[in-house]
Amino acid sequence: MFLNGDNKYTDETTKLMALVRKKPLPVHVAIIMDGNGRWAKKRGLHRVAGHRQGVETLRDVIKTSDDLGIKHLTIFAFSTENWKRPVSEVNALIDLLVEYLRKEVMELHSKNVKIVILGCLDAFHPSVRREIERAVELTKDNSGLNINIALNYGGRAEIIRAVKNIIQDVNDKKISPDDIDEKLFSSYLYTANIPDPDLLIRTSGELRISNFLLYQIAYTELVFTQPDVLWPDFNKKTYLEAIVEYQNRQRRYGGINT
Ligand code: IPE
Ligand code: IPE
Ligand code: MG
Repeated sequence: MFLNGDNKYTDETTKLMALVRKKPLPVHVAIIMDGNGRWAKKRGLHRVAGHRQGVETLRDVIKTSDDLGIKHLTIFAFSTENWKRPVSEVNALIDLLVEYLRKEVMELHSKNVKIVILGCLDAFHPSVRREIERAVELTKDNSGLNINIALNYGGRAEIIRAVKNIIQDVNDKKISPDDIDEKLFSSYLYTANIPDPDLLIRTSGELRISNFLLYQIAYTELVFTQPDVLWPDFNKKTYLEAIVEYQNRQRRYGGINT
């Protein structure tokens, strides 16, 4: 379990790890990885340097999730609104993702990780799509950690897409309007077959959802880090602390505690 560099389990994180294993773990953790730009700015670096450092954090979070046996890790990599950024930053973000997949997909595959994409890939260059689809195809039968990458993803766009597909299936007589309930609606979302997130973490202190998983987070526990924990600063300790916070919450789903 001991690794080099930033990945290392210190005494403190080893203790936290033992602590979180004592209580039920979230089955599904979703993360809004925010603050890369501010991390870079603080250091007088270009925003892209923050995104690059953010990939290191992601690697670490994947490792910890896998070690804990978390089933679903959903990460917000690029939103439908992120196209508003300068084209150079958009391209850098996409290049980083492709580079990450190209370098690491074999290792992820060997660890039984399954990669799923939430979002519409049509907007991307065919070479980008190819790399992403290769990773999805290669890992599709794996039964370990599911990494759901929200890419060109927006919660509202996802809901509109579901409505349109439901109307199409009603018109085609595949379903009847009476069949439409919460379960059926969920099955038309990108997250079909994925349970709703138990825990949503957002780094960098922003207290908003930014169009992430709007339908799915109805009863998700939300954890917002302190403003000084920008995504590249997020580490094993802060991740485990967020899980401890989740474990100390009482989930009532509208009911009462008995
Ligand atoms: C999150 O960091 C990364 C993505 C949006 C992909 P930001 O780039 O939003 O960083 P800040 O919020 O500007 O600091
Ligand atoms: C949310 O972060 C999107 C991702 C992390 C991919 P943003 O930085 O885009 O969100 P806003 O603009 O601060 O709401
Ligand atoms: Mg941001």
